[in-house]
Amino acid sequence: MHSDEQPGHLQIVTTADGSNTIYNAHVGENYHSRNGALQESRHVFIEQGLQYFLDNTADIAPSVSILEVGFGTGLNFLLSADFCTRQQLQLYYIGVEAYPLTAEIIGKTGYDKYISTSIWTSFLDSYRQSLVSPVKLNTYCQLQIAARKLVDFRSDHQFDVIYFDAFASAHQPEMWDEAAITHTLKFLKPGGVFVTYAITGNLKRTIKALGLKVQKAPGAPGKREMLRAINVL
Ligand SMILES: C[S@@+](CC[C@H](N)C(=O)[O-])C[C@H]1O[C@@H](n2cnc3c(N)ncnc32)[C@H](O)[C@@H]1O
Repeated sequence: MHSDEQPGHLQIVTTADGSNTIYNAHVGENYHSRNGALQESRHVFIEQGLQYFLDNTADIAPSVSILEVGFGTGLNFLLSADFCTRQQLQLYYIGVEAYPLTAEIIGKTGYDKYISTSIWTSFLDSYRQSLVSPVKLNTYCQLQIAARKLVDFRSDHQFDVIYFDAFASAHQPEMWDEAAITHTLKFLKPGGVFVTYAITGNLKRTIKALGLKVQKAPGAPGKREMLRAINVL
């Protein structure tokens, strides 16, 4: 594994598919799977989340709204923005992030290799502003980062898709408890899709008790299964 020292507790590390992630020494956890950051993001969030919503649940709509819990490096956003721009689909994206990274460290992730140059450039140029107010990256994509804890996040909007990408429950159990999941799912539209990389009995029970339909999907490399839930109409 190649590693590149960054100031403080954050270190860029390379994962099994050659893509980078960040290791946070305060939490003792990586921002993505060590089995492949890019593969995980593409599989869990783009294919099983966004693409699934468009194929199965969406009316033929020219727009999609996404809420992400745990914005981090922005990899899930960047892949979503690239996808939506290629599909000429309007994207409204809010990422909730309690501890925003600097643009400098995000600039060192190498994620420019996986998306168009224009999206990468406009993302880095507008990253600081997106922490304050919504920004348009191009004709199709609008980004806002809500720089606060999930528990403090409020919105009048409900979203088509929720990407739940918190640190694992072994490291941050409070992100996965009933209160946190119930709060998050208030922001899911009827017919909307919630996805996360993990699946546990507690999570399934909590989500079922809220009236959503829980599905198991094949997991990203290194995980047998992941969870998808549909807010049945
Ligand atoms: C697994 S990482 C997210 C990875 C990210 N989606 C990416 O692609 O880089 C979890 C993220 O949740 C953030 N976080 C931790 N506690 C939080 C909280 N209470 N509310 C919102 N975000 C939180 C962390 O700072 C971290 O960026």
